[in-house]
Amino acid sequence: MLKKRVALLASLAIIVLPLTASTGELTLKAIMQELRQNFVDVSDGFLLDDFDKIAEGALAIAEHPRIPAEQVERISEELGPEMAVFKNFDVQVHELSLEMYKAATERDRDAAVAAYQSMVRACFDCHSAYRERVAAILSDTR
Ligand code: HEC
Repeated sequence: MLKKRVALLASLAIIVLPLTASTGELTLKAIMQELRQNFVDVSDGFLLDDFDKIAEGALAIAEHPRIPAEQVERISEELGPEMAVFKNFDVQVHELSLEMYKAATERDRDAAVAAYQSMVRACFDCHSAYRERVAAILSDTR
């Protein structure tokens, strides 16, 4: 019985470890490419009146992997006190995507649309303020 359990745990570790190792390594750019797909899924959900699709995409956005510590450090060094503004855009996207998720699970279309529109604004505001600068800072790490 115990042996079986140990074997099961060992096989689980083999399955789980490489996954966490690889998601931990995602660069900011790779994270953005995932967000793009989530964003397309959410938009598609709205177009098709598919609340489950909206909820799924919104949750994926909210739970996007963390930017690797090494990249955060480099961005922070370059942006200085502006790092707080950069981070705040990410917090906004996080909170608004959770709001959208909640509204979608409650089938509350108006609230879901409102959260979606604010979230899109936060994505684009961060891009217009920081995309080029941050891409340049990280340009030798991809
Ligand atoms: C905190 C700032 C910030 C927020 C918020 C943000 N982005 Fe980005 N995004 C960036 C930066 C910086 C880049 C440039 C990355 C690079 O080229 O290394 C980028 C690039 C991208 C790209 C281009 C990736 C490529 O292949 O060149 C896509 C797509 C993208 N973001 C989608 C999104 C979506 C969708 C959201 C909202 C759900 C979002 N981003 C929110 C900072 C942000």
